[in-house]
Amino acid sequence: MYDGDIASVLITEQQIKDKVAELAKQVDEDNQQGGDLLLVGVLKGAVMFMTDFARALPQPAQLEFMAVSSYGSSTSSSGVVRILKDLDRDIAGKNVVIVEDIIDSGLTLSWLLKNLASRNPASLEVCTLLRKPDAVQVDVPVRYVGFDIPNEFVVGYGLDYAERYRDLPYIGTLDPKVYTSGV
Ligand code: PRP
Ligand code: MN
Ligand code: MG
Repeated sequence: MYDGDIASVLITEQQIKDKVAELAKQVDEDNQQGGDLLLVGVLKGAVMFMTDFARALPQPAQLEFMAVSSYGSSTSSSGVVRILKDLDRDIAGKNVVIVEDIIDSGLTLSWLLKNLASRNPASLEVCTLLRKPDAVQVDVPVRYVGFDIPNEFVVGYGLDYAERYRDLPYIGTLDPKVYTSGV
């Protein structure tokens, strides 16, 4: 699949699986106060992580989705965040965990945190599978991080380049020829 487009496998399917279980355990341990957790998955990138994470979580959780986009089909963040789909339900008084695939510049998440905090949840935390070094430039409090990764363009397990590669079961680095060929 996608022969030649993936330069290297950065995180294998098994490594993802182990990390998802570890993160779910942490979130479970930190939420023993009762009441269902409300997971907010950020479409589309977080879809694979969200569904695996929810199934690995030892306690019940409600699943909600928001779609925001800051990238379009470019490989770098434009800084412009648009709501493509809002939550359908009120999150006031709920224990909310935002589930993200990756924090790159941090712009999407810092915007999302402000937006959701204004809706008065009982608690609001972030769980991201991946984080890039540039994310530290924006002050985003992130409680749960799967992997800190190098500053390379990565795809797979929900992450896309121009809407492709989301369906890869692992995370790989994209061969630069894919985005420099001009096709
Ligand atoms: C990607 C990724 C994160 C965000 C991270 O989403 O899934 O949501 O960018 O970038 P940032 O930290 O620099 O803001 P994208 O906007 O590409 O939409 P998608 O999830 O539908 O691919
Ligand atoms: Mn995204
Ligand atoms: Mg994207």
